[in-house]
Order: sequence, then structure tokens, then C-alpha cells
Amino acid sequence: MLIQWSEKYETGVSEIDNQHKEIISQLNRLHDAIVSGLGKDVILDILEFAGNYASKHFSYEENCMNKYKCPVAKENEEAHRAFIQRFEEIKTQLSGSDVDTKIVLDVYRELRDWIKSHILKVDTNLKSCVGKLS
Ligand SMILES: [Fe+2]
Repeated sequence: MLIQWSEKYETGVSEIDNQHKEIISQLNRLHDAIVSGLGKDVILDILEFAGNYASKHFSYEENCMNKYKCPVAKENEEAHRAFIQRFEEIKTQLSGSDVDTKIVLDVYRELRDWIKSHILKVDTNLKSCVGKLS
């Protein structure tokens, strides 16, 4: 099922929201490719995106959480480290073998869960912190 960005994903920082919209659109792109049987063709692209995304977006978001003294700042950083580690594992797995459907589906599920759990339960805590300081 495609994910539609909505207010419930808002963090109170438009730059972060735009970056989250981007990861949602990449997930939807992967979803469409899987449905059309082309998952294997886009997976490397998606992983490259996820790697670049992680390095730029995570540090931007971590700085914001520190700036606004968000109580989940530490939890957020730890989750980001775990995400990076998991995607490094997947990249290593992929470099030694042909892409199989299982990996494509694993990446899809993990990205989807990341959006639904991490963004909704951790990142959105920023909203009340931004409100307090601004
Ligand atoms: Fe985060």
C-alpha cells in the first residue's frame, strides 16, 4: 500500500518535512516497481538514495533536536545509527550476490516500518519542542 504524506507526519520544521516527503516518495517508487515486477531494477538506486539520505537528513534532524532540546534527541540518534548499520549490512549482502526478491521485499518492509514507526513516533516529537521555543 502506498503511503500518503499527511499532517500526522509533521515535525514543525518544514525542511525536515520535505526530506520525509522525499523518503516517502522513494518508498512509493519502490512499491510501484515491485508491483510491476521491476523491484530488482530499482533496488540499488533506492539503497543509494537511502545512504545519501541517511548522511544528510539524519545530521540535519539531530541538530534540530539538539537545538530545540527535544527529550527524544538521544533515542533519535540511536535509531539513526541502527538504520545506517542495517543498510550497510544490506549493501554488503547485495555486493556479494545477485539481487533476489527477498532482499527487495526486506528493504521495502524495513523502509515502510521506518516511516510508520520512526517518523511517526520519534521525529514528530520535535513539533511540541519547536512550539515551545518559537
Ligand atoms: Fe529521526
